Amino acid sequence: MKKFTITGVFAREILDCRWNPTVQVDIWVNNETLGRADVPAGRSTGSNEARELRDKEKRYAGQGVRKAVKNVNEILGPAIIGMDVTDQRKVDEKLRSLDGTKNKSKLGANAIVGVSVAVARAASNAVGLPLYRYVNCNAHVLPVPLLNLLNGGKLTSNDLDFQEFCIFPIGAETFSEAMFIGNAVNNELREIVIKKYGKIAANVGDEGGFATPIKKVREAMECLVQAVERSGHARKIGYGFDCAATHWYNPKTKKYTLEGVEYTTDGLFDYYKALCRDYPIVSIEDPFAEDDTKGFIRATKELGIQIVGDDFYCTNPARIRERAPKGAANALLWKFNQIGTLSEALDAAELAYRQGFGIMVSERSGETEDPIIADFVVGINAGQIKTGAGVRSERTAKYNRLLLIEEELGSQARYAGTDFRCAL
Ligand code: PGA
Ligand code: ZN
Repeated sequence: MKKFTITGVFAREILDCRWNPTVQVDIWVNNETLGRADVPAGRSTGSNEARELRDKEKRYAGQGVRKAVKNVNEILGPAIIGMDVTDQRKVDEKLRSLDGTKNKSKLGANAIVGVSVAVARAASNAVGLPLYRYVNCNAHVLPVPLLNLLNGGKLTSNDLDFQEFCIFPIGAETFSEAMFIGNAVNNELREIVIKKYGKIAANVGDEGGFATPIKKVREAMECLVQAVERSGHARKIGYGFDCAATHWYNPKTKKYTLEGVEYTTDGLFDYYKALCRDYPIVSIEDPFAEDDTKGFIRATKELGIQIVGDDFYCTNPARIRERAPKGAANALLWKFNQIGTLSEALDAAELAYRQGFGIMVSERSGETEDPIIADFVVGINAGQIKTGAGVRSERTAKYNRLLLIEEELGSQARYAGTDFRCAL
């Protein structure tokens, strides 16, 4: 059998879509095949995420990643040279042991995850398979794209507390149809917000949704619903939010402040219940703060929709093992850099599936043009992808990769549609 030996590892500092530095890693196999991957970065991060290493020097306002790059080039890289590139778990274990901390803070999660995912890409190139196929020979599910058309929270400079207002084109027949439905709604929404709030309303936030100066959730929903109705696709569309409630929760008072009003966990639950009564909402991400297990359990039990854990789970197998059996959430937001190695992220996915969870593969708000999550979402047959609106190229890159995968899979491609939580 041919050997696929890692013969070179090289990292460099590049830029993400916020003009912040990030890590790019090259892995060479048998001195002839290259696998390259970029590391994304969050802004609305959970406190239990693996820790990225930033230089904290004057250049790039402290955001430089030269130290992380050096850690790849001088510590992580040399340690995996000579290993088999298809031995993902062994490589990841090596990376983890060199760091030695629980949250990868010593060498930097941005250094470690860059190597980990570049290894997967290099392996797929070396064996001559598309990455999604290398991840899984049964990969065939095209995801429902959560089109994040209005942005708030930490990802814009408007006053909306919820971070993302998404449409789910669950009634489309194919992924490519979902794309043109999204485009039609986005065009209508653009006209609506410009008419109501002036030209500035059509500027976009970090994930490509409009950063309209709206203050209230229901006001935002009215614009979105109107756009959906005008597009003519209303029957094919559900709605969803990422509330990112960790960021408007005060752990000292144990209260949430939403639109200037304070809520207890139960009070906020009532707020969601009324929203779900008034709109066809199919999914809510992080409706409560990262450690408000009680809120998550209640929402999961009583709202009867998808409840997604982002900051709540941090793609962390230990957190899933502890919290999922309690009935806290019924879907996992899957961000590979939250945990810091691909094999741990794949463990998290499998654990979540075994709890009957859905999985939503997600971008970070700080992305590059690397479309790797498109391969991962198909690779794990997740059925849902969250990667923003298609008006920013770092988001479009993922959609374009999915369009290509859809074409490659041909008649074997299955669009998740209304089965987005379990599309097999
Ligand atoms: P982040 O935001 O990438 O800044 O964490 C996205 C999210 O909260 O889902
Ligand atoms: Zn989130």
